[in-house]
Amino acid sequence: MTTVLYPEALYSDDALERDVFGPGVRVLMRDVGVIAELNEADCAAAEGLMIMRQWVTAQDLARFPRLRAVVRMGVGYDRIDRAAAAARGILVCNVPDYGTAEVADHALALMLGLRRGLFLHHDAQRAASPASWKVIETPLVRRIETLGLGIVGLGRIGTAVALRARAFGFRVTFYDPYRPDGTERALGIARARTLEELLPGADVLSLHAPLTPETRGMLGLDELRLLPEGAVVINTARGPLMDLAALEVLLREGRIAGAGLDVLPEEPPGDPLPDLLRAYRAREAWLAGRLVVTPHSAFHSPEAWEDIRRKSAETMAAALLTDQPRNVIPPESW
Ligand code: NAI
Repeated sequence: MTTVLYPEALYSDDALERDVFGPGVRVLMRDVGVIAELNEADCAAAEGLMIMRQWVTAQDLARFPRLRAVVRMGVGYDRIDRAAAAARGILVCNVPDYGTAEVADHALALMLGLRRGLFLHHDAQRAASPASWKVIETPLVRRIETLGLGIVGLGRIGTAVALRARAFGFRVTFYDPYRPDGTERALGIARARTLEELLPGADVLSLHAPLTPETRGMLGLDELRLLPEGAVVINTARGPLMDLAALEVLLREGRIAGAGLDVLPEEPPGDPLPDLLRAYRAREAWLAGRLVVTPHSAFHSPEAWEDIRRKSAETMAAALLTDQPRNVIPPESW
């Protein structure tokens, strides 16, 4: 009997999982905060481990003698120690296609919301003493057709963003050193060969690269200073890609007009709260309508949630029960 372990209490029943896995698989649903809290018997039995929000360290993996596959129930797999998994021949798979459109829509919603001054005017209209019924002058608002959009990471989501943004009239340029030549021609967008080449033309910058040793901190103060005056920055990828303190400096200087963040370096934001988030929560006047934060919700829709559940079980079934595993992250890639 093959055992698949779900350590987080995600669902109130396991009917769908039983349906996908079939009778030869035992599904264990547990409710622990971290993997280290699992009991020995569960770890000893599990051949498949399903991960949504938890982290999997080398020490965690050492407790699973029979483990053959870890499925990350989402796109990013940075929370799994993949080197340790690879050393044991444990497959690491993700679910790459459950929320591509949702994240792209979310990124567009953030950039359009900021560039149309929605949050600024919305907040002003429902303030304790509402603003008068007129336009607030702000560097945020510009005609979209005059703006360059810079995309970092032209994978599934980055491409979906490019296609949507073109329809709005953005001049789209991407930076992704791993995309083959000709990608730009297929999509009718421009290509920058380096990040430094991309940034000066990015009136809106949207991040869609995974978190890797190479991308961690790739947007620090020096890089963000290369953006044009009055730029807007959108991050729906991973928080550690961008230095939050540097973003605050440039927002305060007015060099960056606004930012939309669905992801943060630490989630949920910890104690002490980063200064930028403190100012945001305190509704400090200098930041009015310029910063929008959503709680890593870009992927979310009921349909995407349903897709995660089914597709992650199907991915685990393919890894454990067939000789054609799907969505395997190559051990050498980050
Ligand atoms: P993907 O793997 O299809 O695309 C990532 C792209 O980034 C690839 O084309 C890759 O070549 C590129 N890339 C890698 N290193 C790079 C570098 N140093 N510089 C520039 N580009 C680089 O992944 P997908 O599905 O497009 O997702 C992108 C990211 O979005 C995920 O890794 C994840 O972190 C994030 N995400 C966030 C969600 C949310 O709810 N906020 C939900 C789903 C994904």
